[in-house]
Amino acid sequence: MSQYQAVKGTRDIFPEEAAQWKYVEGIVHSLASLYGFSEIRTPVFEYTELFQRGIGATTDIVGKEMFTFQPDPKGRSLTLRPEMTAGVMRAAIQKNLLSLAPVHKLYYISELFRKERPQAGRQRQFSQFGAELIGVSSPAAVAEVMTLMMQVFESLGLHGLKLRVNTLGDTADRLRYREALQGYFAPYHSVLDEASKERLEKNPLRILDSKNPAVQEIVAGAPKLYDYLHEVAVRDFEKVLFYLEERGIAYEIDHRLVRGLDYYCYTAFEVTSSELGAQDAIGGGGRYDGLARELGSSSEVPASGFAVGMERLLMTMEKQGLFAALNPHGPVVYVVVQSQELADNGLQVAYRLRKAGIMTDIDLAARSMKAQMREANRIRASYALFIGTTEVETGLYSLKNLVTSEQTTLSLEGVMEILREPAAKEFYKL
Ligand code: HAM
Repeated sequence: MSQYQAVKGTRDIFPEEAAQWKYVEGIVHSLASLYGFSEIRTPVFEYTELFQRGIGATTDIVGKEMFTFQPDPKGRSLTLRPEMTAGVMRAAIQKNLLSLAPVHKLYYISELFRKERPQAGRQRQFSQFGAELIGVSSPAAVAEVMTLMMQVFESLGLHGLKLRVNTLGDTADRLRYREALQGYFAPYHSVLDEASKERLEKNPLRILDSKNPAVQEIVAGAPKLYDYLHEVAVRDFEKVLFYLEERGIAYEIDHRLVRGLDYYCYTAFEVTSSELGAQDAIGGGGRYDGLARELGSSSEVPASGFAVGMERLLMTMEKQGLFAALNPHGPVVYVVVQSQELADNGLQVAYRLRKAGIMTDIDLAARSMKAQMREANRIRASYALFIGTTEVETGLYSLKNLVTSEQTTLSLEGVMEILREPAAKEFYKL
């Protein structure tokens, strides 16, 4: 074994699994387009302040999970992106996108980094697909991103997922609620853990998110944000629920749902999978009207979006047997040479087939004919094309169908004709 292993919390994706990723990514790309979203790619690292301001200094992500580094002693601190929303909003403001059109619908499939303790479904490098609807916030907009997310799950054949929704109101609602929480938690001060004590001062809402069972017990009796909402927020939430119902999207209202990032207002949501164990959140999102201002934008940029963890999505699909029908095919034809003297003839034939658009493979390791045939079967080639002295002399080749074992003798043009025929082309998506 090599002395080097993949870093803890990271993993390699080999071809068989990569085919599953490509399949899921294909559905994401086509459904995102269907809903009018266009792809955005942003840098893997950003200035650290972007995340501190955007996600919130008292969140776990910013407090303990960021990979932060200083490129040079005088340089500004940089951080590997732990999520996409702050970077996408930064890009939108920087490019002044809203001056081009009032609404921008962007999606991504991207790698992210969080210094969490690795366990099943929790990695230090992971991927998300997500969408951000920037420039307008309304029940219709948040319902649109939720519907896109749920349609991706549905198209992939997933079942048994649970969508939980909540409303967090606006800033004024949360300020009133914050005071109520501080009042509620004050008598418990001595029993709260250190992190919660700190949060009590700076951001008591974060205490609701605590994973500590002792704190959770106290949280159970805490006042509910819903009771502090003003009329507009309540009606806004009802409209979101109306859209979900109209589209047949099942949901549960969970007034304890606060999410792990500070930028949310009004609707927030999360989807869990019972297939996943402790790390059961497969995706989440909500509305984040205040983020742009937090990032220094001179104007309001209302927005909403979601992100889904690709690894957790794929794990759930695997558990539900949804990759069984995915049968990655090998090359159309494997060129087999009878002896190594004919290797160059074989290479030239393979080149001509590939130029003709036919998926072709050939041995490059000077293996015996038997070993070449074994390889053709291992990689699930559909045909083997034999190159022997007679074939080279006459220009007529034996083409063997590896499924039916039928064999025919043909010129190279004849071979191309057969392998390019519409049915084969359709089958192999040539
Ligand atoms: P988040 O809830 O932090 O939201 O992450 C979304 C999803 O990413 C999670 O539900 C989970 O599936 C996956 N995930 C998070 N951390 C890890 C990890 N360490 N290993 C594996 N998967 C993980 C956001 O990131 C927001 N930016 C979502 C959003 C977009 N809100 C508005 N727009």
